Amino acid sequence: MPPASPVLAAEITEIAAGLGAAPATISPKYFYDAAGSVLFERITRLPEYYLTRTERAIMQAHGEEIGRQVGRGATVIELGAGNCEKARRLCALIEPGCFVAVDISADFLHQAVDGLRAAFPALDVRAVVTDLLGELALPDDIPADRRLVFYPGSSIGNFDPPAALALLRRMRALLGEDGALLIGVDLVKDAAVLEAAYDDAAGVTAAFNLNVLTHLNRLLGADFDLAQWRHRALFNRERSRIEMHLEAYADTLVTWPGGSRHFRRGERIHTENSYKYPIADFAGLLERAGFASRSCWTDSGHAFAVLLARP
Ligand code: TRP
Repeated sequence: MPPASPVLAAEITEIAAGLGAAPATISPKYFYDAAGSVLFERITRLPEYYLTRTERAIMQAHGEEIGRQVGRGATVIELGAGNCEKARRLCALIEPGCFVAVDISADFLHQAVDGLRAAFPALDVRAVVTDLLGELALPDDIPADRRLVFYPGSSIGNFDPPAALALLRRMRALLGEDGALLIGVDLVKDAAVLEAAYDDAAGVTAAFNLNVLTHLNRLLGADFDLAQWRHRALFNRERSRIEMHLEAYADTLVTWPGGSRHFRRGERIHTENSYKYPIADFAGLLERAGFASRSCWTDSGHAFAVLLARP
């Protein structure tokens, strides 16, 4: 099966290199095929997955204060806007003049943006398809003053700290002195609570993690047998991160056109990290990225934090 395009060929080379590495890795970007996106939305509603609802509750509880600090008529730039569900709530709270939904997935984004336009007919809604790991350049016609970068869901936790710092600096570069960043961050806590959030009783997160193998079977023409693999979510306290792995139940050989890899029983493929911060550490990261002052709100259990940071 020859690769269809140079882009796809480069991708396939990258995937094969990850599978051949020790330990093997698969980039988390391959989670989000159509099935993965549906599973991810189910994760955000799981009882064990406290992040989404806690962030929502914090924003609702402090919505008036957030709205007061941001003011009406700002230009909101949401990174990884997805289905624009959080965008709707934020727009109701702060009444922006312009909303820029940035996401890597074009199909999903355009559909979501149409929904947002229908819900807020007076709002100027734009869609920008780009990779957050790239340059993060916005079209010239997006208002430059009073920008609010919105990065919810503790997505910043999916980058290791140096990459998170680099991304925060790129966000800072989108803002003038009158801009701000509204960001959600998951906080370090009891390992059992964290591990349950990433390994729920209903098995939705397991299905989400395993789905990456189905995606690679399709993309690469690999022959992963999903029954040979189990989902593992482990809190690594030293590095303050949840690690997601796929672990082989038994010795298994995986092949694809042009390559193969033998996995021993118990051997793992590392698929994702989710870093958990003490608040002071995250505040330090913001400072190093060029954000001098901030407001910070948390829930009563200090599970999650929402920060509004200014240059
Ligand atoms: N950023 C969120 C988190 O780390 C959402 C997320 C990204 C996620 N990848 C995931 C949740 C994989 C569960 C599994 O929690």
